[in-house]
Amino acid sequence: MDAIQALNTRRSTKAYTPQQVPDELLDQILKAGLNAPTGRNNQKVITVAVRNTDDRNRLSKMNGALLGIDSDPFYGAPCVVAVLSDPERNTWVEDGSLVLGNLLHAAHALGLGSCWVHRAREVFDSKEGKALLEKWGLPSHLRGIGFCLLGYPAKAPIEKKLEDNRIINID
Ligand SMILES: Cc1cc2nc3c(=O)[nH]c(=O)nc-3n(C[C@H](O)[C@H](O)[C@H](O)COP(=O)(O)O)c2cc1C
Repeated sequence: MDAIQALNTRRSTKAYTPQQVPDELLDQILKAGLNAPTGRNNQKVITVAVRNTDDRNRLSKMNGALLGIDSDPFYGAPCVVAVLSDPERNTWVEDGSLVLGNLLHAAHALGLGSCWVHRAREVFDSKEGKALLEKWGLPSHLRGIGFCLLGYPAKAPIEKKLEDNRIINID
């Protein structure tokens, strides 16, 4: 799949099979993520690919609690990539968001489903989130940008029609 096709056909997957993402695909996706541009090339975005069931479920519980739900906000995805950024950089949100976008598109180009799930900021600002950062050997000042779900789709993503009047050409 070429880049334009991947950009135009990616859709959020909101149901996953339990089949784990293999190393060879995950490595390519994470590399594509970190090749996103960063302000002044600061490269301070960190991706943590969580396939360990205990940590994945801990993140799911924290995220669900913020939403006020008991169900899995990660839709059964077996791999959850936490995108973290260094808030000391003035472009930390933009940098992290571009990395997350790259992850979504790379996953799609390689035939996987993906979805951005929110509330990473609140998760990693919390005491429990900081305990996970410590467990992973990461500094506690990192802040969450988002979670990128990865896995094999259990059902087709919802079709989407683009809203009109959002492309303006000034010639
Ligand atoms: C910043 C951001 C936050 C999002 N948060 C969630 C979320 O918490 N849960 C979820 O199911 N989808 C989330 N999404 C996915 C959107 O629902 C999805 O991108 C949107 O419906 C458009 O569909 P598409 O991705 O298939 O084009 C998020 C997307 C973005 C960009």
